Amino acid sequence: MVKISPSVLSADFLEFGEDIKKMEDLGIDMLHIDVMDGIFVPNISFGNPLIKSIKAHTKLPLDVHLMIDKPHRYIEDFAKYADILGFHFEAGSDNVATLKRIRELGCKSCITIKPCTEPEEIFDLLPLCDMVLVMSVEPGFGGQSFLESALSKLSRLKAEIERRGLDIDLEVDGGVNGETAESAVKAGANVLVAGSYLIGSDKMEERVEFLKSL
Ligand code: DX5
Ligand code: ZN
Repeated sequence: MVKISPSVLSADFLEFGEDIKKMEDLGIDMLHIDVMDGIFVPNISFGNPLIKSIKAHTKLPLDVHLMIDKPHRYIEDFAKYADILGFHFEAGSDNVATLKRIRELGCKSCITIKPCTEPEEIFDLLPLCDMVLVMSVEPGFGGQSFLESALSKLSRLKAEIERRGLDIDLEVDGGVNGETAESAVKAGANVLVAGSYLIGSDKMEERVEFLKSL
């Protein structure tokens, strides 16, 4: 069964409480929260104070996607509110130690790869991961087009996860919509991040239904 993780990056934060309630009623599975520092990616989003407020408004699990340089510096902070805490393979931390620390702090651990990274580079880390996130756009902005190169990465990861008999969610993020979601699921993704396709759309209900049907 596919899980849906709407990205709050596309939200109007002064209206967002209503959107959260609506999405809870539609049966989404978690909320995807994009943290950007203006260094690892060329954009700045928000930090822990907003995540704390979101946590107080919902029981949905928070799927926090850190797009920050040297993320090990902030793992303790974000673990206070995150349920799944993910960071980038390319961001300059000791990835083994950071994944272990996330689990020690009681969160599910997630490693994320940019379009320039091949899945084989993270195979050794898989036993430390509860989820792997494959970026299907260059991280930094919502509303970009899905990169087809993500499909083969998903299927190679899926095959390796199965070969090792691991229980790991496979998430895809960027440009997921009515045209691209099905191929991502066929390639092995079981968690779909969707930002501009869902948040602010007057077709949110039918679009959630569609994604859930995949
Ligand atoms: C991009 C973010 C995504 C983004 C997705 O760096 O990680 O989560 O918000 O937005 P859409 O679904 O519009 O591509
Ligand atoms: Zn994201």
